[in-house]
Amino acid sequence: VQREMSSLPRVYITRQIPPEGSHFFDLWDSDDVPVPRKELLQKVKGVDALLCVLTEKIDAELLDAAGPNLRVLSTMSVGFDHLSLEELKKRSVTSDLLPLVYGVNGEYGTTEIWYGDMGNMVLLRYSVMGNMVTLRYGKYVSMDELASQSDFLTVCCALTPETKDICNKDLFSKMKKTSIFINTSRGGVVHQEDLYEALSSGQIAGAGLDVTVPEPLPTSHPLFTLNNCVILPHIASASYTTRNAMSALAANNLLLGLKGQPMIKELKL
Ligand code: DGY
Repeated sequence: VQREMSSLPRVYITRQIPPEGSHFFDLWDSDDVPVPRKELLQKVKGVDALLCVLTEKIDAELLDAAGPNLRVLSTMSVGFDHLSLEELKKRSVTSDLLPLVYGVNGEYGTTEIWYGDMGNMVLLRYSVMGNMVTLRYGKYVSMDELASQSDFLTVCCALTPETKDICNKDLFSKMKKTSIFINTSRGGVVHQEDLYEALSSGQIAGAGLDVTVPEPLPTSHPLFTLNNCVILPHIASASYTTRNAMSALAANNLLLGLKGQPMIKELKL
């Protein structure tokens, strides 16, 4: 029995995730606080796979602590800015590590736009809300045109070096005074001081933010003084249905990766 047990892959999950995804594995057993870094660095030693959430920085230190057994990384998030892609790339060459993430699958054509998963879901919700948006296939426009034409500007992109602070003074100054800015992606895509300026000066009509820098945003932050800004503590995916589906997908991705089979959602490095 001991021999069989030790030949099973070892997996560590960094958060209490819904049972749909967690009942096969060992996991950090508090839902209140993220696993402390020190404990995480201990727990990942020698694991074959890691299922994390966005509070864990997957960087050189963590990958070194895990060691060469680590073959699969699955994150229960669509965002992947907590993963050091450079470090993963380096190691995938040297140690067969197969990094994967849930839900990253933007594909783009030239004459039609294929939205990523998040863009599609946003469109679906807008279209069921009435006749606000009937757009299905759009066209690429410059940021200037996007800013000046939109009544609602919703940001759903990943945070990468290219998108950091992409929503800044320049963008807000081109938006209509009646426009609403919505960010459900990552706080880092917005230059928050510029957004504060745009909102307090009436340059734009309002903003809805699910994500900020830092998270949670201290209640003393100037954005909280504005009555045209609604701020949530990064809970856009916090419904039972969504989190259950995310955890099952992350777990299945991880199991497929461990078996060396194609994953449902995989981030190509
Ligand atoms: C994601 O999936 O990246 C969300 O931001 C976390 O719920």
